[in-house]
Amino acid sequence: MTRLRIGVFGAGMVAQVEHVPNLVHLREKFELVAVADPSAKARGFMESRFGVATDPSFDALLQRKLDAVLIAAPDFAHVSAVEKALTAGLHVLAEKPLCYDPKDADRLIAAQKAAGKVVQVAYMKRFDQSYAAALGLIEGLGAKLRYISVEKTEPDASYQMGHHFYRASDDVTPEMIAEGRAETQKQVTAALGKSISGAVFRGYTGAFCSSLVHDVNLVHGFLEHLGIKQVEASAAHVFAGAEGASATMRVGGDQALWQMVHINVPHLAEYRERVALHFDDRIVELVFPAPYLNHQPTRLIVQRSNGQRYETTEVRDGFAEPYIAELEGFHMAVTSGAPVKTGIAHAKTDMTLIASIGKLAAA
Ligand SMILES: NC(=O)c1ccc[n+]([C@@H]2O[C@H](COP(=O)([O-])OP(=O)(O)OC[C@H]3O[C@@H](n4cnc5c(N)ncnc54)[C@H](O)[C@@H]3O)[C@@H](O)[C@H]2O)c1
Repeated sequence: MTRLRIGVFGAGMVAQVEHVPNLVHLREKFELVAVADPSAKARGFMESRFGVATDPSFDALLQRKLDAVLIAAPDFAHVSAVEKALTAGLHVLAEKPLCYDPKDADRLIAAQKAAGKVVQVAYMKRFDQSYAAALGLIEGLGAKLRYISVEKTEPDASYQMGHHFYRASDDVTPEMIAEGRAETQKQVTAALGKSISGAVFRGYTGAFCSSLVHDVNLVHGFLEHLGIKQVEASAAHVFAGAEGASATMRVGGDQALWQMVHINVPHLAEYRERVALHFDDRIVELVFPAPYLNHQPTRLIVQRSNGQRYETTEVRDGFAEPYIAELEGFHMAVTSGAPVKTGIAHAKTDMTLIASIGKLAAA
C-alpha cells in the first residue's frame, strides 16, 4: 500500500482530538511527518503526546518532503494555505469552510487544475455510513420531496470533548489574532458585498459558515442525488445574540421548502443534529451524534406506510468513524484516483448558498 507523507497545519482542537490521532491510527496509509502551528503550547502537546516533529509555521512545514497536507488552521487561513500547498505540488485535505468568498473557490479550482493534485474538503459527515444508506433509500424520489428540516442544538465544547486530552492554543500573539480578525472581516465583506459586524457577523461566521456548513453540504448531496438543482434562500435570521441562526430555502421552485436552524444550548449536556427529508409517503431522518464522541453510530430512521399499516425502522450500518473514513477516502483519491466526494466545486456550491443566506440575514 502506498504510504502518504503528510503534514498537518494547525494543531488546535480538531487536530488534537481527531486528525492527528486518526493519522497515527492509519499508519499503514499515512506517515505523519510533522505538524505546524504558531502556538508553542499546541506544538508541545503534539510532541509530548504523539511524538511527532513540529514546525512554527506553514512555510517551514512546506520545506519538508511531503506528498500531502491536512489544513486544520483557522477558517480565514484556508484559501491561502490551499494555494500554497498546491503551488508546492501537494495534495490537500482542507477543513471547512474552504472559503468565505465563492470567488476564492474559482481561484482554487484553477490552481488545483494547474497542479493536477487532489483537493478534498473535510466534510466528514459525507463519509458517514448512515448517510450513504440514506442515499440508497431515496433513490428516484426527487419528484416526491416536499420538505427538508435541519435542526442542530449544540452544548458548550466542554460537554462534547471534556473527556479528550486537549491543550488550548491560547498563546498565539495578539498581533496574529488581530491579523486573523482583519482577514476574516475582509473575506466576509468580499463574500457578502458589504461589511457586517456584531451579532450578524458572529452568526454568519459561526453558526452558518462554521457549523451549518456541514448540513448545507449534506443537503446539497441529497439534492444532487435526487436530481434537484434549484435552491434559493428566501429568509434568514440571526437571533439570541448570535447564539441562534436560521434560514429558509425554496427547493425546486415551489416544489419543496428547506428550513434549517442552529441553536447553542450551552448548559445542556446533549448535542443533537437532525436532518429529515419529508416525501409524500415517507420521512427519512438522520440523527447525528456529537462529533467528538467517535464511533457512535448515526441513527437512520425511516417512517413508511403500506395502506393503513405504519412502520418505523431504524437502520445502523456498523461503527466506523466518519473522521477516519474521510482520511481513508482522501488516501484512495490520491493513490488510486478514486473520485473526490467533497471537492472544491462542492464547497463553492455550499458557500454560494451560505453567502446568499448571509445577505438576507444582514438585510
Ligand atoms: N470538520 C469538523 O468537524 C471540524 C470540527 C472542528 C473544527 N473544524 C475546522 O477546523 C479548523 C480548526 O478548528 P479548531 O477548532 O481546531 O480551532 P483551534 O482554534 O482550536 O485551532 C486552530 C489552530 O490554528 C493555529 N493557527 C495557525 N495559524 C494561525 C493564525 N494565523 N492565527 C491564529 N491561529 C493560527 C492556532 O494556534 C490553533 O492551534 C477550523 O477551520 C474549523 O472550522 C472542523
